[in-house]
Amino acid sequence: MDSVTEPKQQSLPAIAVTVIAGLLIWVLLSFFRKKEVKDKDEQINETKPNENTSNVKTGNKKAKHQRFLKKPSFVNFTHPYLHVTLKGHSGKVLGLDASINGKYMASCSDDRSVRLWSVKDFGSGNKCVRVNVEFDHARQARFSPDSRAFIAGLAVENTVRVFKLGKKDDGVTTCIPIEEDFKKYNQAELLNIGVGATSSGGSYVMTAYKNTTIMVRNLKGDILHTINTNQGNNNHAAVSPCGRFVASSGWTPDVKVWAVNFTRSGDYKDVTRAFELKGHTTSVWSFDFNNDSTRMVTVSKDGSWRFYDTRVEYEKGQEPYLLNSGEFCITGCSVDVDYCIVALSPDARVAAVACMNNITVFSTATGEVEVEFTEVHSEIISSLIFDIAGRYILSSGDKHIRIFHNTLGYKETIRELEDKIKPLPSASTTRERYQKQINEAKKALAAIDKS
Ligand SMILES: *[C@@H]1O[C@H](CO)[C@@H](O)[C@H](O)[C@H]1NC(C)=O
Ligand SMILES: *[C@@H]1O[C@H](CO)[C@@H](O)[C@H](O)[C@H]1NC(C)=O
Ligand SMILES: *[C@@H]1O[C@H](CO)[C@@H](O)[C@H](O)[C@H]1NC(C)=O
Ligand SMILES: *[C@@H]1O[C@H](CO)[C@@H](O)[C@H](O)[C@H]1NC(C)=O
Ligand SMILES: *[C@@H]1O[C@H](CO)[C@@H](O)[C@H](O)[C@H]1NC(C)=O
Ligand SMILES: *[C@@H]1O[C@H](CO)[C@@H](O)[C@H](O)[C@H]1NC(C)=O
Ligand SMILES: *[C@@H]1O[C@H](CO)[C@@H](O)[C@H](O)[C@H]1NC(C)=O
Repeated sequence: MDSVTEPKQQSLPAIAVTVIAGLLIWVLLSFFRKKEVKDKDEQINETKPNENTSNVKTGNKKAKHQRFLKKPSFVNFTHPYLHVTLKGHSGKVLGLDASINGKYMASCSDDRSVRLWSVKDFGSGNKCVRVNVEFDHARQARFSPDSRAFIAGLAVENTVRVFKLGKKDDGVTTCIPIEEDFKKYNQAELLNIGVGATSSGGSYVMTAYKNTTIMVRNLKGDILHTINTNQGNNNHAAVSPCGRFVASSGWTPDVKVWAVNFTRSGDYKDVTRAFELKGHTTSVWSFDFNNDSTRMVTVSKDGSWRFYDTRVEYEKGQEPYLLNSGEFCITGCSVDVDYCIVALSPDARVAAVACMNNITVFSTATGEVEVEFTEVHSEIISSLIFDIAGRYILSSGDKHIRIFHNTLGYKETIRELEDKIKPLPSASTTRERYQKQINEAKKALAAIDKS
């Protein structure tokens, strides 16, 4: 996000006025904040699991789910594939994101902070950089493609704040908000945000609203293009990791994908319809791209997942085609689940689906389920992602973040390469290369087994 400008120079009197106004707002806000915390306490008592709450509000799925989920046994969740549990947030973690350079993971929580974790140090304790989200909290955080900034989707203000990563004199990473928040739109709730950069150097921010509006904006928040998805309401919207596409799913049984076009010199050009994913029979809850947008996976209320090849010449009218599909409610989904999240590994070999507080991991090539992690969090899973290298599956749902080894990723790599290697002559460089990759994957698996 290099083109984001430095804060404007202000004259002294202007600064004084700002400071005084800021103090006033702060006093007012802290008053409201105290009240809000009190309100929260009351809510917690209301939804205690042992109380007969189901009859208070019949048809309130959330209350029913919370009652179902709040069992003390979740506190000490453990699994052989669990690498580490990250602790530090004092409120529910609402969103996760991994930086493209593979170095950081960001988590945001209703404790009014975003925390940046070093992926390299996942195993060694709970070190993180705490970034305060003043007067608000973030539901989503998304790194900029150059990994030097991130944007946060503000829950109360319903808009976007940009934070820039920097280093203090002692080398410690810090983050500061830059300029003011994006202009807000109050007609609809913010559903998701994203940042995209194209190969020509153009970059943009996506703000998607539940009311089927998606806005493509420049890095200052000015609207470049507005899309109406016409999907009734939106369940999910995202920018592809390669930055070329914006996609959405909702009440209709399709996923719509648009191309965000920039000129060769990096200026915004237009947004055009690219392609659609079809075949589900009802609402698509969630979808995900692999790292170069050549594959996509979807999960729907119809109980199935679908895996597509999206490397198509959509400009010539080619449509994505289905590579595989299956059901994701294997043993679970016994209660009436009303939303599931899907994540696709960067290499597209593995997909994971989170329903309530369970996670199912399966191979996209064979459809076989490798493992089900059950009752991973004490509340409904809010975010599910793979790290950039495809080594881990990360989930959030309560105050903690669970990091699982992507064991299936290694197994699928071995299976695929062993198939490829068979017909190759014994003294070929390709064979050697594949063999090396197989050995590396085997070594990684052995290390997980030992730990
Ligand atoms: C909620 O429960 C806590 C203790 O569990 C108690 O101190 C507090 O007064 C309760 N609040 C309400 C509104 O009942
Ligand atoms: C919950 O309420 C229903 C209907 O009022 C009642 O039949 C049931 O016995 C209650 N359960 C408990 C545990 O109090
Ligand atoms: C979880 O583990 C801790 C320490 O290992 C123990 O004190 C606590 O009772 C356990 N909680 C549950 C619910 O099993
Ligand atoms: C949805 O919200 C956006 C942003 O607040 C607004 O501009 C748009 O008119 C709304 N669209 C619909 C269909 O209500
Ligand atoms: C940009 O839009 C045109 C159609 O207006 C399309 O032919 C072209 O492929 C698009 N470029 C990209 C990079 O999607
Ligand atoms: C989660 O898994 C457990 C154990 O298999 C199962 O009893 C429960 O119904 C599942 N929950 C959901 C929402 O699928
Ligand atoms: C995507 O992931 C694959 C496999 O991990 C890797 O070889 C490739 O370089 C990645 N591509 C991009 C664009 O990140």
